[in-house]
Amino acid sequence: MGSMVVRGGRALEGRVAVEGAKNSVLPILAASLLPGGPSLIHNVPAVNDVFTVIEVLTSLGARVEWRGTAVAVDAGGVGSRQAPEALVRRMRAAFWVLGPLLARSGQAAISLPGGCAIGSRPIDLHVKGLAALGADIECGHGSILARAPRLRGTRVYLDLPSVGATEHLMVTATLAEGTTIIENAAEEPEIVDLAAYLAARGARISGAGTRVIRVEGVTELGAAEHTVIPDRIEAGTFMIAAAISGGEIEVAGVIPEHLKGATAKLREAGVTVEEGEGQLTVRATGRPRAVDVKTLPYPGFPTDLQAPMMALMAVAEGTSLITETVFESRFAHVDELKRMGADIVIEGRSALVRGRPGLTGASVRATDIRAGAALILAALAAEGSSEVGAIHHLDRGYAGLEHKLHSLGADIRRRED
Ligand code: EPZ
Repeated sequence: MGSMVVRGGRALEGRVAVEGAKNSVLPILAASLLPGGPSLIHNVPAVNDVFTVIEVLTSLGARVEWRGTAVAVDAGGVGSRQAPEALVRRMRAAFWVLGPLLARSGQAAISLPGGCAIGSRPIDLHVKGLAALGADIECGHGSILARAPRLRGTRVYLDLPSVGATEHLMVTATLAEGTTIIENAAEEPEIVDLAAYLAARGARISGAGTRVIRVEGVTELGAAEHTVIPDRIEAGTFMIAAAISGGEIEVAGVIPEHLKGATAKLREAGVTVEEGEGQLTVRATGRPRAVDVKTLPYPGFPTDLQAPMMALMAVAEGTSLITETVFESRFAHVDELKRMGADIVIEGRSALVRGRPGLTGASVRATDIRAGAALILAALAAEGSSEVGAIHHLDRGYAGLEHKLHSLGADIRRRED
């Protein structure tokens, strides 16, 4: 458990390149367990969630090796059907190996997932979809045992556009007998990226990125090489870093289309955002204006940028209403921001943020990946020094954040316990 020590008050200037998308790599690595051939995944971020899912794959018998920023997976040796409980509880996305293991060997057991402290994080839609694909599912003793001698194509309606359930079912359906239709699917860019990887392996998928995804089952898949899309949430975090510090940052190696929601809101707040070829230049023009934000499934404003945006609104001119519609309790960062002088009142799924001219440095704690990012951003703008503890949360989703911020002029250093 370490912390970041930040001395605020410096405007950030310069260029930063973003990593590959963590939330694209995780389902792709899970899907690499599908039989048929090895995978070579390029542009993989060196973050703890990726290390965890690699540990899961290795523990199941896969051969995994880093080749620079690429990861090679050969699942030919996967024999064990039980993913280790400690690893799956550490990271929710590890649960998504269940379907590929089922497609591979007709049986799989896995513990119920853990993950960030942002709500109950149920998996009912995953289970409902796997059952619709023909799996017999038994839950008990904190684990799930699934059996499916044969997976059959089906029509699944997702009660809500769950990213993970959409990905999990799309992957599992690739080797089912017949066609699967996933309705009310999530439309996130990471789902389109996963579909591109699966298509490279020979899967037949259409509609990824829309509300209806069609998967025509094939009898076998092959090997594939794939380059992961840029991380839009890391990019958005740096955009807000420019706005909150009063500086100008060129965020490079992005797909501007994936950041439409964040770009629109920052512009509404008076921040200049210029779109270029694969990059965005973000320039603060004084104190931001307060704007209302409602998180929604893609292409709405992303829930993963709600906490960083709240940090910005804490120093905005005016009052903003921030509503979190995706997770039932994703406001753990509010108390920590209040320790820095923020004026925030939570009412149900909304937070009323009365902007203050400035924040004051304090000792605070990260509670999840994005809350940690929000506190670092607030510390950049705060007067004096802050210490953000429990930084292992941040390391799950950001690679070398302190080095990147330091290269932009921030006074930030890591302190290991
Ligand atoms: C993915 O989580 C991301 N994680 C999250 O990013 C992201 O916040 C989330 O999608 C929403 O965009 C990865 O991709 C690894 P969901 P996921 O299923 O798939 C409810 C980060 O910081 N739900 O779309 O777990 C659920 O409780 C992380 O990088 C059910 O009710 O999110 C939530 O309220 C945090 N039943 C809502 O759906 C289910 O079976 C959206 O969850 C599944 C989900």
